[in-house]
Amino acid sequence: MTADTTSTLEDYLDPECDPETRVASLLLALSLDEKLSLCAGQGFWKTKSVERLGIKPFRLTDGPRGIGWHSSGKRCTAFPSGIAQAASWDPELLEQFGEALGQEARAVGGGTVLGPAINIARTPLNGRTFEYLSEDPVLNSELVVPIVKGIQRQGVAACVKHFAVNNQETDRMRVDARVCERALQEIYLPAFRAAVEEGDAWSIMAAYNAVNGVAACENKDLLVTRLREQWGFRGFVVSDWFAVRRTTSSAACVEGGLSLEMPGRGSKYRYKNLKESYTQDQFTEQDIDDVLRGLLMAMVLVGHLDPERVRGKRNTPDHQALACTMAESGMTLLKNEGDLLPLDPGRCRKIAALGPRLKKRNCLPLWGGSAGVWPPHEITPWMGLQNENQGRFEWVSNPKDADVVLLFVGLSHRPGLDSEVKDKSSLSLPAKQEKLITDTLKTNPNTVIVLLNGSPIAMPWVNDVPAILECWYPGMEGGTAIARTLFGDNNPSGKLPVTFPKTLQDSPAHVSARTFPGDGQTVHYDEELFVGYRHFDKYDIEPLFPFGHGLSYSKFAYDNLVLSQESMSSDEELTISLTVTNVSDVAGAEVVQLYVASSQVSEDRPVQALKGFRKVWLEAGATQMVTITVPASSLHIFDPDLNQWMIQNGEHTARLGSSSRDIRLQKTFTILEADASLEKAV
Ligand code: BGC
Repeated sequence: MTADTTSTLEDYLDPECDPETRVASLLLALSLDEKLSLCAGQGFWKTKSVERLGIKPFRLTDGPRGIGWHSSGKRCTAFPSGIAQAASWDPELLEQFGEALGQEARAVGGGTVLGPAINIARTPLNGRTFEYLSEDPVLNSELVVPIVKGIQRQGVAACVKHFAVNNQETDRMRVDARVCERALQEIYLPAFRAAVEEGDAWSIMAAYNAVNGVAACENKDLLVTRLREQWGFRGFVVSDWFAVRRTTSSAACVEGGLSLEMPGRGSKYRYKNLKESYTQDQFTEQDIDDVLRGLLMAMVLVGHLDPERVRGKRNTPDHQALACTMAESGMTLLKNEGDLLPLDPGRCRKIAALGPRLKKRNCLPLWGGSAGVWPPHEITPWMGLQNENQGRFEWVSNPKDADVVLLFVGLSHRPGLDSEVKDKSSLSLPAKQEKLITDTLKTNPNTVIVLLNGSPIAMPWVNDVPAILECWYPGMEGGTAIARTLFGDNNPSGKLPVTFPKTLQDSPAHVSARTFPGDGQTVHYDEELFVGYRHFDKYDIEPLFPFGHGLSYSKFAYDNLVLSQESMSSDEELTISLTVTNVSDVAGAEVVQLYVASSQVSEDRPVQALKGFRKVWLEAGATQMVTITVPASSLHIFDPDLNQWMIQNGEHTARLGSSSRDIRLQKTFTILEADASLEKAV
């Protein structure tokens, strides 16, 4: 008997009892054999039941853009993919998305959503970039927390994945990511930490890869020391599917802090194996209690043990409308020379719409891997153009006869493009599409490139086209959102959550095979902190499109920058305010971005880093005061020599702008001298 003995055997059944007492009671009630049996799944998508105690199988369902048919057997709302969600830079909207996702999970009997997926976009070739959010830890953190909160508010556990440093698909089951402590602390871990500390995530998925030599599923440093002891995680750690295969032993996983191995069949954590290791004294019942406690906690928190769990709804008109709003909010206008967009029927009535992505569906079962969702319908771009036209434009089939050509190109979820399991082999669009673009431009230079893809691509034709709209993978209502954006019924307000490099060589992970895809199966993260724009800034490389970039049909003026104080001590916070005015005659939204640069120029520190942002909606001509608060603690930096967080004393510049390379206002402030070392540390 290893559990807290103040609770009774029946407490776990009582919804009125607090969760800790219920979990302690469950640990008392379960026999050792029952505990061991709960550590490995039953088949692919659920845990085993314990009929004696009325514990039903606990179901886990993919994934980060909607509930996957492969894991639920049901067709559900397909929301825009992760990178499209992030392009909205809209935490409130993503909280609504989390709620809708939680609802749909409940509708299929799911207790856990296997998402959000938040690995850092280290290389533009990662096949799963479309599924993830960003290259920046602050944007990543600000967006993951509301998604987690939204899902869990619906009584479903969010399973934040893939913990940690899972940044490529090449050799994903075998790869060992060698990354320094500073990059872990400042780049790769902050969003996981925020998901736990601020979002109280009830589940974390341990990744396929190893981190600094130890497989994530048996990585005590990650799963116990950081996650549970330092961040206060109270949920369960589930392995990525089949990830436990590469670990050394079931005992190492128990010691490493793994709660649940998925799927069950052939698993190291299967009852027989665990019992054998237990009998050989490789771990104690207390150790099993320690890994299982979080799973029982999640069951309690989602109401899995309660008599009546309210069922959710899926495919509601509200969820589909939200999918459309999210797609619209993520539309990222990369270029718009001569204000060609939105299409104006007065200027250009005849339109040719063509290209391989015009009529293609992106929302199909397992399409792209585990993030695939099969919705009841999907509005393709072509359908959207027809539905939203309202007689404004005339369609012509030959680009020669058109006033404007809309050319739909991009990638797809085929393996080797934007898809799980395999990375992309190139930054370019498929050769046939490159040729189509060149040929079309020869016929009609007034060609708008409409992109459907989930990762950065090279654009050798960028200077030859007047307009480029990045639509990402916009989900089941995407065609409507695209048409409404092209026709001006939606004003694009998306901003790039990743840098688009001109060439692969410009990108920090592509210095040598050592840094990607790896030297043997070891990938060296030699770029350390210089991921994404941090690298482009440091080496003064001009990107194709910078982090944070995205145009609007409106124009915004930034004025009146005021800092609440010129200097602050390390326990204070700075309030930055400014006014933003929509100086156009079209209503629209702007994402005001705050970057902070330290005046102590140092080779081994980024030139600037995102520290906050606000998305504001402004009617034509309207002005709004925008405030962003920066606690001095958010400017701490990790000192690799002392192995602890430090206050960054001295002068800093608050830089406010419309992208990382379009800074409109700036002002300096000082963090007052103090003992720079912090107890906070690791
Ligand atoms: C993926 C996970 C996913 C799991 C279950 C794995 O291949 O990496 O993200 O949740 O499968 O489908």
